[in-house]
Amino acid sequence: MTETALLSSGAYADAVATATRAAAAYYTDGATPLGDDEYDVLVRAIAAYEQAHPQEVLPDSPTGKVAGGAVQGDVPHSVPMLSLDNVFTAEELADWAAGLERRLGRAPAGWCVEPKLDGLAVAARYRGGRLRRVITRGDGLAGEDISHAAGDVLGLPEHLTEAVDVELRGEVLLTREQFERANEIRTEHGAVPFANPRNGAAGTLRAKDRPYRIELTFFAYDAVGLGEELGHSALLERLAALGANTAATTAAAPRRCETVEQVQQRVEEIAGLRAELPFGIDGVVIKADDAADQQQAGSGSRAPRWAVARKLAAEHKVTRLLDVEWAVGRTGIIAPRAVLEPVVIDGVTVTYATLHNPADIERRGLMLGDQVFVYRAGDVIPRVEAPLVDERTGAERPIVFPEACPRCGDAIDTAEQRWRCARGRNCQAVASIIYAAGRDQLDIEGLGSTRAVQLVEAGLVADLADVFELTREQLLALDRMGETSTDNLLAAIGTARTRPLNRALCALGIRGTGRSMSRRIAAHFGSMAAIRAADAEALAEVDGMGPEKARLMVAELAELAPLLDRLAALGVGTAVTEPTAPRPAADAEPAAAAAAGPLGGQAVVVTGSMTGPLAALSRNEMNELIERAGGKASSSVSKRTTLLVAGEKAGSKRAKAEELAIRILTPDEFADLVAAHLPRA
Ligand code: IVH
Repeated sequence: MTETALLSSGAYADAVATATRAAAAYYTDGATPLGDDEYDVLVRAIAAYEQAHPQEVLPDSPTGKVAGGAVQGDVPHSVPMLSLDNVFTAEELADWAAGLERRLGRAPAGWCVEPKLDGLAVAARYRGGRLRRVITRGDGLAGEDISHAAGDVLGLPEHLTEAVDVELRGEVLLTREQFERANEIRTEHGAVPFANPRNGAAGTLRAKDRPYRIELTFFAYDAVGLGEELGHSALLERLAALGANTAATTAAAPRRCETVEQVQQRVEEIAGLRAELPFGIDGVVIKADDAADQQQAGSGSRAPRWAVARKLAAEHKVTRLLDVEWAVGRTGIIAPRAVLEPVVIDGVTVTYATLHNPADIERRGLMLGDQVFVYRAGDVIPRVEAPLVDERTGAERPIVFPEACPRCGDAIDTAEQRWRCARGRNCQAVASIIYAAGRDQLDIEGLGSTRAVQLVEAGLVADLADVFELTREQLLALDRMGETSTDNLLAAIGTARTRPLNRALCALGIRGTGRSMSRRIAAHFGSMAAIRAADAEALAEVDGMGPEKARLMVAELAELAPLLDRLAALGVGTAVTEPTAPRPAADAEPAAAAAAGPLGGQAVVVTGSMTGPLAALSRNEMNELIERAGGKASSSVSKRTTLLVAGEKAGSKRAKAEELAIRILTPDEFADLVAAHLPRA
């Protein structure tokens, strides 16, 4: 962001033309394929060229102009409405603050740090406390009258709490919720959806004869006529007392800071809050807080010298929608996902984005090949916001919605916004039966993929409980099922019924409960009934679970209740937890549990291939063995590891253990150590 490209003179003219076009779209209601970040980079390059070639500056150049010179108006402003200079890094911000200090001959008495709201600047004139006129910023000297829109702007009261003559200045925007609502309304009326909230706010403020109304929000951050002596923080308080909405009502509330270090910290805090804010911000504004400092610093023709914007990377980027994939989730939900031409948003490459549901695709009027606005903030899943309809070439193709479930081919239930396979969870029947019968779960020999498909297709099995109700007659009636295979399968199912709780739990395929988590949960609760009775708080106590996973698990267990009831009635998962590290008495200290068995208190890692008595054990079975012997199994060597079992072809884990001077045993030595806990052959 800080690097400035060097332009040739031809490229300079092109850059000015591109930036002017983009600014016109940005400040009015068009959409431009040039993102905010790219616009800033372009303007920096233009400014650098002009500094080196001052005699070649083109009259159209956006530099030094409010709104890049893109807009004009016919209502003169009482006092010019200025813009802000930008900085892009903490260092640039520190340099700017040092520059202001030099100009003042002292450090400013204090700073105010507040969000840079991503909307449009307006001036709202009040006479005797009554709203008379609303004007856009325009070119800073004169703006457009948009009083017609005032009634739809929350936070811009018709009457102030006092009968004062004043001009409030601030930003009008669409909150994220207002944006979603606006696009719903627009598509209901057959209008093109807004590409992003800023674009929607610009279009809405200028539109006159729309057959529908769209609600906006105003945030005040400046005023003319409230007294020259008011510092910025005091001014904001006064604005709120008059009844105007200010950012003080938000998590990113303006804050007075005494030092530049505090300023930098608050900038980071506001940047960190960005994803959670209910509206978009494109930076953080830093202002000298005291009126005397502001007056002494003064203003240039474009921006005040006592304030600056620390820009944040754009959250919206334009890219191309290449494809839409339809994935069937575990519960049968059929969710569309956008495949995008990869685009970097705030340092992360985005290739996929959510499209929520089919109705959402229709609402946004998307087509394959469209240039689209993609939004990504913090940890949220990137989402496609809207197409740039003006950029269409005619080569775009409609998005084809599936007519049958992409996984099982059955019908789709389209009654709700989120489409779902008519079989619901059972859509997954084959996959989930194969998983449950796997070696690390219930280990049902003879129930592999071919047999699972056969059983599901014959209508004998739709879920795991059905497996335990299969009868000899049913199996014998199937193709390629002789007496021997039937008896073997029934015997294997009989054994599966007695598998310990951790394996029965793992077999359910609940998200986040793989083999080792299932062992920990089983050891913690001791029975399926206790697991089912646990609330999220109790589940979160399991080592490595955490509140978020616990919440999801409670929800999944609730959804699985009918299946779990049937499994319990069939005696599945009721066997005592995997034998036999002595479980501590209910009232024993947790440390007692860790100390039990030959591996009590040990953190053990296994690497390389196992030999001798351990040759037949899978990694999962090795981990189970470690835990039966009282140890804790883990997959990577760290400072906490106390023992490494290194078989043949042990590689980097062995090297790391040697480096950390961790005890290393061969598989045979280890087998001796845990002999009492080895599985019976
Ligand atoms: S102060 C003299 N404060 O950002 C005062 N501007 O890029 C100049 N903006 O024109 C403006 N949030 O449209 C100020 N908290 C804030 C702001 C803010 C958003 C906008 C405003 C300004 C533009 C400059």
